[in-house]
Amino acid sequence: MARSSLASSAADAVAGQFATDRAAVDAALHVLCERELDGVPNAVAAAIRYSLLGEGKRLRALLLLAAYRASGGADDASALAAAVEIVHAYSLVHDDLPCMDDDDVRRGRPTTHKVHGAVVAATAGIAMVPLAARAACDAATALGVPRGARGAMVRELMRASGAGGMVGGQLLDLAGEGHTLSLADLERVHGAKTGALIAASVRIGGIAARATPARAEALDRYGRAVGLAFQIADDVLDVTATTAQLGKTAGRDAALGKSTYPALLGIPGAVARADALTRQACDALRARDLLTPSLERLARFVVLRTS
Ligand code: IPE
Ligand code: IPE
Ligand code: MG
Ligand code: MG
Ligand code: MG
Repeated sequence: MARSSLASSAADAVAGQFATDRAAVDAALHVLCERELDGVPNAVAAAIRYSLLGEGKRLRALLLLAAYRASGGADDASALAAAVEIVHAYSLVHDDLPCMDDDDVRRGRPTTHKVHGAVVAATAGIAMVPLAARAACDAATALGVPRGARGAMVRELMRASGAGGMVGGQLLDLAGEGHTLSLADLERVHGAKTGALIAASVRIGGIAARATPARAEALDRYGRAVGLAFQIADDVLDVTATTAQLGKTAGRDAALGKSTYPALLGIPGAVARADALTRQACDALRARDLLTPSLERLARFVVLRTS
């Protein structure tokens, strides 16, 4: 077989794996809604369903699964991967609220508060955090992860979601509106509001497969670099893509007076920074013999995506 067709069949295999993984994570989210929303007030349950089952890229889940497999995991970890998507979905519900980015469109549909009202959307978002913790714990138990590692995974997820991670980063992001942050401050905001959960997703995949400390450290470096690159690319897309492409309102950052990478570095400078982070991420894994085609492709996808 010619080298180029070998390369393209390998690329097809990775793309096929992502499609399979996305479907498995979507199915796990459906099962979770069936199993866990009984007894939840109807309006809140409907808002949680609306948010969880919307069409997302499921990037954090794909990263978790790829890190799990790269670390030697061989079981079906899609329910565990669904748990990080619950935290992510909650973050989107709150990010779009009128008191935050006040956005009307998400994943190509009206935002959760536009459909269900702000009080129900805010409540649903908060309820999704303990839901995610329980989902992670149950999935880890079903995977046969020992108790100590189970605790470590849930701790990672909650730490990344909390005031030292996403929630704190979101607050700093809002406080920065109308101000020009330094590059170092902006990196801290992006690393916290977005990078923390992405890095945790990768780390959790490693913990579930009992990665050695050296490999866990490499996964952590990969996750943090990819996480920051992801938000830089999100900032770039906010300027360069359309609302139809994004499924969310383009140009929102400028309208809200946010500090962003393109605002500080220009679009070419922001793209170059994201590319450098992608290379850094892959180098960290290569040094530990962990750079699988899936993890390499996901790092590249983060900066090459169009939505
Ligand atoms: C959007 O995340 C919010 C950010 C952290 C920038 P995604 O672009 O991963 O959103 P979905 O899940 O694919 O909708
Ligand atoms: C969101 O950042 C970070 C989150 C934790 C949700 P953005 O505000 O840039 O995300 P989008 O562009 O609305 O998806
Ligand atoms: Mg925001
Ligand atoms: Mg936003
Ligand atoms: Mg954005």
